Amino acid sequence: INAAGERRYYSSSPCHYGICIDIDGVLIKGTKVVPETKSALRFLNGENKLKKKIPFILLTNGGGVTETKKAEELSEKLGFPIKPSQLTLAHSPMHQLVPMFKDSDVLVIGGVGDNCRIVAESYGFNRIIIPNDVLAWKPCIWPFTKLSEDDLKLTKKLDFSNIKIEAIMMFHDSRDWGRDLQIILDVLRSKDGYLETLASPQELSTRNFPLFFSNPDIIWSNDCIVPRMAQGSFRLCLEHLYESLFQKKETGLQLKYTLFGKPETVTYKYAHKLLEDYSFEITGQKLPNRRIYAVGDNPASDIAGANRYGWTSILVRTGVFKGDNHLLNPAKYVADNILQAVEWMFDQEE
Ligand code: G3P
Ligand code: MG
Repeated sequence: INAAGERRYYSSSPCHYGICIDIDGVLIKGTKVVPETKSALRFLNGENKLKKKIPFILLTNGGGVTETKKAEELSEKLGFPIKPSQLTLAHSPMHQLVPMFKDSDVLVIGGVGDNCRIVAESYGFNRIIIPNDVLAWKPCIWPFTKLSEDDLKLTKKLDFSNIKIEAIMMFHDSRDWGRDLQIILDVLRSKDGYLETLASPQELSTRNFPLFFSNPDIIWSNDCIVPRMAQGSFRLCLEHLYESLFQKKETGLQLKYTLFGKPETVTYKYAHKLLEDYSFEITGQKLPNRRIYAVGDNPASDIAGANRYGWTSILVRTGVFKGDNHLLNPAKYVADNILQAVEWMFDQEE
């Protein structure tokens, strides 16, 4: 109690709760930062009435660059320091696939230039191929995309007649849907992963080609009023093409794949560990039963995933969702923006 008779609280004990925050539609809208973002992050950083630091991490279905690069970009854009150890990107948990495919030829889809090759190599994959490597080998594979000099500089000069592609991993949104759909289909129907060959219908029906996606979202939110198509929309196109090409009605052939990203449990487990490790990094103490809040703008991914994983979900109205609450995936609380969301969490806990 100070001289004016006011009660002041100072916290020295570690915080018994934490929060996982979505990026697009919550902290950022396309090229702009959501106006309440900075105050919300400051609030979490101790600018609250208890001067309490609340551990937080960012959990996004976006990516396309390394966690270190993304942390730099975000710190600059938000005007608030974000560490790589606070970031789960869509593809971050996919480093768990390294033991299986470390020295296999893996086709990585998505992102600008060869950024996703750099990401995959940073995880420990040694033989990453990108779609433009294939076009550099044989342009007629997708004759509608002409590689520029700059594109060519980023390609590896490979002879795909000797390369057995053993897995496909989509790390980020495709920058050339036609090229990428064509090349993925070519690999899926190839004999043993060799481009420009065809598997027999018998082989196709018995094999499960390893195909992984990092982001199930059908839509996402940027500067546009109407939500934009996300990686899940690309996957729907691929599924449809695959199933019509292989006459699903007659053959029963269906596209099989594994998903990472929200709302998948594998991603929540990863983010959970990251939040605990980060809390340990800033407090030096472990709290096994921490209560966790999750803020997001997309009911189908952020809210569905958090509810399923047993976290307290908060839906904001700054992104994909507008309205009272979502019927299929209702959030525990609906806030107008990220600042209201963190204040509500604080009121629940303090
Ligand atoms: O492409 C990114 C988008 O699908 C979602 O990003 O940050 O809202 O999870 P985020
Ligand atoms: Mg979002």
